[in-house]
Amino acid sequence: MADLRIELNRLKLKNPILVASGTFGYAKEAVAFCDYTQLGGIIPKTVTLVPRAGNPPPRTVETSCGMLNSIGLDNDGLETFLEKHLDYLLGLGTSIIANVAGHSAEEFVTLTQRLNDFPALAGVELNISCPNVAGGVDFATKPELTEKIIRSVREVCHLPIIAKLTPNVTSIVEIAQAAAEGGADAVTLTNTLLGMAINWRKRKPILGNIVGGLSGPAIKPVVLRMVYQVAQKVKVPIIGVGGIQSLDDVMEFIVAGASAVQIGTANFYNPTLASSLPAKLAEVVEQEGCSSIRELVGSLKLPNQTPPAACAPACNAR
Ligand code: FUM
Repeated sequence: MADLRIELNRLKLKNPILVASGTFGYAKEAVAFCDYTQLGGIIPKTVTLVPRAGNPPPRTVETSCGMLNSIGLDNDGLETFLEKHLDYLLGLGTSIIANVAGHSAEEFVTLTQRLNDFPALAGVELNISCPNVAGGVDFATKPELTEKIIRSVREVCHLPIIAKLTPNVTSIVEIAQAAAEGGADAVTLTNTLLGMAINWRKRKPILGNIVGGLSGPAIKPVVLRMVYQVAQKVKVPIIGVGGIQSLDDVMEFIVAGASAVQIGTANFYNPTLASSLPAKLAEVVEQEGCSSIRELVGSLKLPNQTPPAACAPACNAR
């Protein structure tokens, strides 16, 4: 049987298939469809220090090959998460990675310090990239802020730290580098791409918050490109997320340089997918003549060392 274990610095997973925050609730909804023990891990919905009601409806809209959401981090707050959901989650036979969002570095520190009381957590994902709340996406659009938040958290929190980054930037490499310098054990690439939907007959935006975050297969090529670019330039393990809906999609991310992946939007229309993937992944590792998935991470072969399209003009000018 192929070895699917993955280590992302201090974060250790039995296999690289995770489910993405915000697409799996607190894991109760999918119990009839998903064998949680098969998963490498579950990342529950983002929690904030105090409860949030979220944005006005409508909060989701289907798009071509994707969906837009503007939930606005609707959640009951950290203490309710710890009291009502965490015991259940920790009993599911897979790794649980909490996901938190704060308004400031100080708030991220407070949130993650409290999580120290729960060493059974496998790690914490810092949502520094939510496009639907004031200030949310701003953290991961600035390298200094990204580094500051991660460094502050790293100083107080004993859990492995994952920084969830936004694709709404010019240079994802710069931001991933800042996350690595701040001490992130891994980066999640990426959160959603800012988008909009319009009902032109009514001359109105469809989402209550006017704009939202695009996810699903529509964004896969964008994120795959970012995974590739970061893997080439930054020494930090990558968790890829963006439109994965098949084993081939998983393998594309792995070959591009992701050590693990998250299944996100696909959970809404195929809740059995995520738990079916590890067994298929083990088969494909063997078919490729490998004994471990780790041999395939970043195994992309470039025809020649031509620069990636995004930097071609500048590089060619040299
Ligand atoms: O609006 C939301 O709750 C989405 C969060 C996110 O994309 O991080």
